[in-house]
Amino acid sequence: MLQWEPAMATGVGAVDRQHKELVKQVNELVTAMKSGKGRQVVGEVLTFLGKYAIDHFSMEEGLMQKHGYPEYAEHKAIHENFKRDFGALAQQFDAAPTSLSLTIEVQRRVTEWLKDHILNIDGKVGKYLTAKGVG
Ligand SMILES: [Fe+2]
Repeated sequence: MLQWEPAMATGVGAVDRQHKELVKQVNELVTAMKSGKGRQVVGEVLTFLGKYAIDHFSMEEGLMQKHGYPEYAEHKAIHENFKRDFGALAQQFDAAPTSLSLTIEVQRRVTEWLKDHILNIDGKVGKYLTAKGVG
C-alpha cells in the first residue's frame, strides 16, 4: 500500500489534493486486482485512474507553463512516458485480466512511479512554485 506522507506535500494545495486522490486510486486499483475483483470492477478503476492522471498532468503542466518553470519540457516528457506505460498496462489487462504477473507489475510500476514522481519530480515543481508565491 502506498501511504501518503508529509514529505510528499509539494506545498501547492491543488496539486497536493489531487496527489492524495491519486494515491487513493492507485491503492484501490491494487486492492481490487489482488482481491480478485471481477474484470469489470478492475477495468472501471483502471479507466478512472487513467483519466484522472491525464487531467492531473494537464493541471500541473498548466501551472508550470503559467509560471515559466524551466524544466517544463523534461517534466512533460515524463508525464507522456507514464501515460504510454499506463496505456500499455491497461491493454495488457484487457488481454489478460486475471494475470498475477500483471497485478504485480501494476503494483510495482504504478505505485513506485507515483511515489518517486511526487517526491522527486513534483517536489521540485513545488519548491519553484511556492517560491513564486503559488500555494
Ligand atoms: Fe508531475
